[in-house]
Amino acid sequence: MEEKNSILVVDDEMGPREALRMILKNRYEVVTVDNGEHAMGHIHEKDFDVVIVDIKMAGMDGLQLLRRIKEARPDIEVVLMTAYASIETAKSALRYGALDYLIKPFDHRDVIDIVEKGAVKRKEHLRTREEIKRLHIATTELSKEVEAAKRSIESHYASTVKALLAAIDAKDQYTRGHSERVSRFSAFLAEKIGIPHDKILALEQAALIHDIGKIGVEGNILKKQGVLDLTEFEEIKKHPSIGARIIASVDFLQEMIPVILCHHERFDGTGFPERLKGAGIPLSARVVAVADAVDAMLCDRPYRSALALEHVREELSQMGGRQFDPEIVSVVLTGGLLECYSGIFDYQHIGG
Ligand SMILES: [Fe+2]
Repeated sequence: MEEKNSILVVDDEMGPREALRMILKNRYEVVTVDNGEHAMGHIHEKDFDVVIVDIKMAGMDGLQLLRRIKEARPDIEVVLMTAYASIETAKSALRYGALDYLIKPFDHRDVIDIVEKGAVKRKEHLRTREEIKRLHIATTELSKEVEAAKRSIESHYASTVKALLAAIDAKDQYTRGHSERVSRFSAFLAEKIGIPHDKILALEQAALIHDIGKIGVEGNILKKQGVLDLTEFEEIKKHPSIGARIIASVDFLQEMIPVILCHHERFDGTGFPERLKGAGIPLSARVVAVADAVDAMLCDRPYRSALALEHVREELSQMGGRQFDPEIVSVVLTGGLLECYSGIFDYQHIGG
């Protein structure tokens, strides 16, 4: 059986109080009190749907009580009672959140209608509140699921990159360590030239596997100690395209393709595989190209020893605008960035 709505009647005169009880008792659970303080005590203890308040009461008057009820329980509907003389006061009280007013002496039908209206409105309030609560719980649950999915994607992403890195390392000894240094220097540079933070992580990961295409190049060419002949060099030149094809098959690694495909393009348009030029080369690839070359110069290679820092600076400034983006080169050459980078990695102990 549905529970009866609860009505609280507050009036310091017994007559109207009892009249309302008589009118409402068959339909509602009715509680009556004779002053505002008692009313607040009941409101704190019980969940009333509608409170009927006389405007003129000794002590706390009806308007004060209305204010206190709305502060404590904004969802409770309040109906004011007034004599003809105070109708204007009752009307203005509607602005403070009262639902309606009753004029003494009461019309039986008006009382039933107004209280019923209040009970319906309160029910709607409660339903809305429940709905908001339910939505809040659902949103919280959804956010948790999104977070978990994000963590899972990030973990898949990291382990895929790790697996690809291990594949290059197994094929080409030189890339071991080199990829990680290029990745870190690329991220360092990307930050200095103002690439947005949310793009830097992808750039860092792409730099880590920029040479992934080398797994498709013959091992003896990769491992050759001397200078490569023309045919061998043509083979090596295929690694950016091979890498891009490998990555193209992995949905969530697509944003790495520009770095992998274009890290050997040259600013003057003489690079490979597409002979892209200047700003036509993706910025991320221009960054990795510089980091890749700096790391290579600072390391011993089978065909030459590591270059001194001064020599690296010279090479970079000569190649700015030719092989490399001159703006990126100037960032590397200013503010002690190169010295800082070479200091982070102990290049004297890195073999080729
Ligand atoms: Fe490469």
